[in-house]
Amino acid sequence: MVRQWIALVVFVHLASGNNDISVKDLTPSVYEPSWTYKCVPDEGCQRSQSPEPTANYTGTVYESLDLCRTVCGRFGGIWPRPVTAALSSQTVRIHPNYLRFDLIDAPVETREILAKMTQVATSNLMDECNGNVTDIVETPVIVFITIKTPNLEQTWSTDESYMLDVQNKEVNVAVHIVAETVYGARHALETFTQLVTADKPDYTDQYRCGLRLISGAKIRDKPVYPHRGFLLDTSRNFIPLEDIKRMLDGMAATKMNVFHWHVTDTHSFPLESVRVPQFTRYGAYSAYEIYTTEEVRELINYARVRGIRVVIEIDSPAHAGNGWQWGKEYGFGDLAVCTNEKQWRSFCIQPPCGQLNPANPNMYKVLRDLYKDIAEMLSQPALFHMGGDEVFVECWNSTQDITTYMESKGYERNTEGFIKLWAEFHSTALQIWDEELTAMGQSEQPVMLWSSELTQAHRISKYLNKDRYVIEVWEPVSSPLLSQLLRLGFRTVSVPKDIWYLDHGFWGITKYSNWRRMYSHVLPVEANMLGGEVAMWSEYVDSQALDTRVWPRAAAVAERLWSNPSSSANIAEPRLQRLRSRLAARGIPSDVLSPGWCAQHDSRCL
Ligand SMILES: *[C@@H]1O[C@H](CO)[C@@H](O)[C@H](O)[C@H]1NC(C)=O
Ligand SMILES: *[C@@H]1O[C@H](CO)[C@@H](O)[C@H](O)[C@H]1NC(C)=O
Ligand SMILES: *[C@@H]1O[C@H](CO)[C@@H](O)[C@H](O)[C@H]1NC(C)=O
Repeated sequence: MVRQWIALVVFVHLASGNNDISVKDLTPSVYEPSWTYKCVPDEGCQRSQSPEPTANYTGTVYESLDLCRTVCGRFGGIWPRPVTAALSSQTVRIHPNYLRFDLIDAPVETREILAKMTQVATSNLMDECNGNVTDIVETPVIVFITIKTPNLEQTWSTDESYMLDVQNKEVNVAVHIVAETVYGARHALETFTQLVTADKPDYTDQYRCGLRLISGAKIRDKPVYPHRGFLLDTSRNFIPLEDIKRMLDGMAATKMNVFHWHVTDTHSFPLESVRVPQFTRYGAYSAYEIYTTEEVRELINYARVRGIRVVIEIDSPAHAGNGWQWGKEYGFGDLAVCTNEKQWRSFCIQPPCGQLNPANPNMYKVLRDLYKDIAEMLSQPALFHMGGDEVFVECWNSTQDITTYMESKGYERNTEGFIKLWAEFHSTALQIWDEELTAMGQSEQPVMLWSSELTQAHRISKYLNKDRYVIEVWEPVSSPLLSQLLRLGFRTVSVPKDIWYLDHGFWGITKYSNWRRMYSHVLPVEANMLGGEVAMWSEYVDSQALDTRVWPRAAAVAERLWSNPSSSANIAEPRLQRLRSRLAARGIPSDVLSPGWCAQHDSRCL
C-alpha cells in the first residue's frame, strides 16, 4: 500500500513535468484521499476527484460511499425496497444517547416486545460505528410509535404494513411510525436504521465515528407475500445456535419472516425431546451438537423480536433414520426401517437411508411424544412442517413387517398401494398433531408438506385436504405443479430447486444460481400463493462457510418476496451493495458482488 502511494506520487511528479514542486512537498504527513462521492441522476454514486475538476457539478459531495448510497436514488440504501419513498438528500447528525422511543400510542400488550425491538434497532445503529459512536451531538431524536391492534399472533394474515416519516425540526428530529401490528412497527424500525449511516470524518483516527440520519423521509410500505422464508438444514451438518441467530439477524435486516428449520433428517437428530431423550442419545452427532429445549425456546423468542416465525420441520415418513434406531433395544420394535443400509442405492436416494415404519403402532406413540414437545416449544398459533418428501417405495417394499401390514389393510403392493400407505401415515400424523394442539387449548392449524408423488395434481385431492395442508413446491421452475396446485385451490409456498436452492452448484451436476438469477425469478401473485423460501441444505456447508453461502443471495429472494419489483437486478445492485456493507457492520459476512472499482462507480460495469 505504502509503496504504491509513493510510486503514484513520483508518477504524478514526472507526468506534470513541474520541476518547482519537490517530491517531499507532494508527500503529506497524513494520508489524504483525493476523492469524494457524488450522486449522479440515473448513474448512482460515482467516485470523483475532489475538488471536482469539472466545476459544473452542483449536487452534494459525500465523503464516503456508504453515505452517498444512503441518500442516492429513489430508495436510498433501503433493502428490500419499499412501496414508496420520498427521501431528502440531506442528513442530520444523531447520537444513540439522544434517541428516545415513545410507545404511548402502542397498546400495553405490545410494549414489552416493542421495547425489545427498539433495543435491537439501537444496537444496529451502534453497529454502524462498530459499537462506539464517539461524535457527540445532542439533537434529540424522538421516535413516536403508533400501533393499532394489540394482536401478537404471527400468521399468514398478520398485517406487516407500516408508515415511516422523518422530520427535522431544528430543535429535534421527529420520527413517526404508524403500523397495524407490532410486526409492522418492527419493519419500520428496520427501515429507520437503514436511513442511518456511519460518518467517519477523520481518516487519521479510526475510532472517530458519528451517525447521520436522512433528515427528511416519507415512506409507505407493505409486503407482497406473507411468507418470506429462509430454510436451514441442521441435520446433514450441525449449525450452532449462535450461527442460526446470526442468520435470523440477516433475515430481520431483509424483512424475511419465516425461519423454516429443517432440524432433523436421516443423518442426525440434534433436537432434544424431553419425552423421548433417545432421539438425541442415538441421533446427535455429538454431545455438543444438540439443541436443548431451552435453546429452542430462546431461539423462537429471538426470532419473534425480529418479526420472524419459526417453523419446525420433522421430515417424515422418509428422511428419518438416525435418532429412531433404538426401538428394538427398548422393546418397541423397528420404529424406522432400512436405517443406515449399506447398499443404500436400493433403499433411498441419498445415504444414510431410513424411513419410518407405518406398520408399527409404537412408532406413532413415539411420534406423538415428539409432537407434544414441539407443540409446547412453538409459539402459538403453531406452524408445523411434516416433511413428506421422497418416500422410497423399495425400502418399505423390502420390509416384511410392512408388506404384511399392507396385506392386512388390503393395500396392493403396486405404486397406488404404497401411496395409500404413505397417505395413511400423513393422515394419522395430522390427527395426532391436531389432538396434541387441541389438548393444549389451541385450535386446529394448517400444516406444511413438501410436494411429492403424493401431491401430484391427479392424486392430491384424493388424499390431502386443501384446508389443512399448505404445499411447499420444490419442483424446478419448468414443472407445471405449482400452477396446477394453485388451480386446485391449494395454498402454496414456492422454492424452485433450480433457482432458490443455495446448495446448488456445490455438488453433482447442479448449477449455481447467482443473486441476479435468484432476484429475477418471479412468482404468480394470487391469494393462495403465500410466498417462497430460499433453502440452505447443509450437506456441503457448516458454520465455517455458512454466511457467505447464504448472503447476499438470500437477500435477493427477500426483496423479490417483499417488493416483487418489476425493475431489473441492475437497478437493485447499488442498494444491495449498501446492504452488504450494513450486514458486515452487523457482523454478517456476505459474498462479493463485484470488483471494488465497480462498487465505487455504480452502473459503469453493467
Ligand atoms: C458544463 O456546463 C457547460 C455550460 O452549461 C456545458 O456546456 C458543459 O458541457 C458542462 N460540462 C460538463 C463536463 O458537464
Ligand atoms: C471508543 O472511542 C474512543 C475515542 O476514540 C476510544 O478512546 C475508546 O477506546 C473506544 N472504545 C472502544 C470500546 O472501542
Ligand atoms: C414390491 O415388491 C414385489 C415383490 O418383489 C413386486 O412384485 C412389486 O412390483 C414391488 N412394488 C413396487 C411398487 O415396486
